Amino acid sequence: MNNYSSLPIVIAHRGASGFRPEHTLAAYELAINLGADYIEPDLVLTKDGILIARHENEISTTTNVAEYPEFANRLTTKLIDGKSITGWFTEDFTLAEIKTLKAKERLPFRDQSFNGMFSIPTFQEIIDLVKAKSREIGRSIGIYPETKHPTYFASLGLPLEEPLIATLHDNGYKSATDPIFIQSFETGNLQKLSQLTDLPLIQLLENSGQPFDLAIKGDRRTYQDLTKPQELAKIAEYAAGIGPNKQMIIPIDNQGKLLTPTSLIADAHAVGLLIHPYTFRNETQYLSPDYHNNPELEYEQFFHLGVDGIFTDFTNTALTVINRIYKEL
Ligand code: G3P
Ligand code: CA
Repeated sequence: MNNYSSLPIVIAHRGASGFRPEHTLAAYELAINLGADYIEPDLVLTKDGILIARHENEISTTTNVAEYPEFANRLTTKLIDGKSITGWFTEDFTLAEIKTLKAKERLPFRDQSFNGMFSIPTFQEIIDLVKAKSREIGRSIGIYPETKHPTYFASLGLPLEEPLIATLHDNGYKSATDPIFIQSFETGNLQKLSQLTDLPLIQLLENSGQPFDLAIKGDRRTYQDLTKPQELAKIAEYAAGIGPNKQMIIPIDNQGKLLTPTSLIADAHAVGLLIHPYTFRNETQYLSPDYHNNPELEYEQFFHLGVDGIFTDFTNTALTVINRIYKEL
């Protein structure tokens, strides 16, 4: 059980995505202003090899690309990580073309009033923002980039890892103690990254399925298999921590009711891995009925169990709970 000896970190999932369209400089800046320790850009590549922040390489749900007649003929269907997806894809656009688009809110129940206002940021622009804000407010803000679809992008001749590490190293982020965590749902690219950099790495884990790179190699290990102690020990050889779906720590039944916590936190800590579960959100549809519409209860439970950080769409709610719990000590 947690003795609350160390403060969990607050990772602003896609920025302050509860309040602004995800993965925009406005979303990241608001998260920083709300007090986030790290901001989380998901990264994909443009046709000309520039890292930009989008959750998927398909961009119709988070940008206004469908409104541009000049891009109508780029609507296409592709197989991404074994799934057939129809839309517009970042790898078919140059950065200059991407910069003509505007972001929009993905979720219909969130604020739509910022649609059309913000551009798609490059990774370099995000780093520049973080450095400027760190100077402005006098606190070191971290960056927690995720490589999206690494096997797919490598298959296009556009691997993510080299430009990611070159960008981070060129910006002075090089050592294991720098405020960076690089994350991936795949395993092979994290192992490759561990050869390219000393920066800390995080193995993401889903509640079901298996890493795509394992699937295409015929390796049958699932994400659940990777939570076994002997597999966690192997992850610890290349990563500093794991980022599991929160249901891998507190499972739920088919009504969303909370079940007995697993041993994943203790098992991760036993092999020296940090554990940063995702994703904490305030809205009713994301909360177990056991939390009675009070998202603070969910944070309290996970902090009490001993997680080292959390991914949240609502940095302010996470910090409300952290300030209450840790000030009471
Ligand atoms: O990266 C951890 C968390 O972000 C979960 O993944 O990118 O699907 O929201 P994502
Ligand atoms: Ca992510």
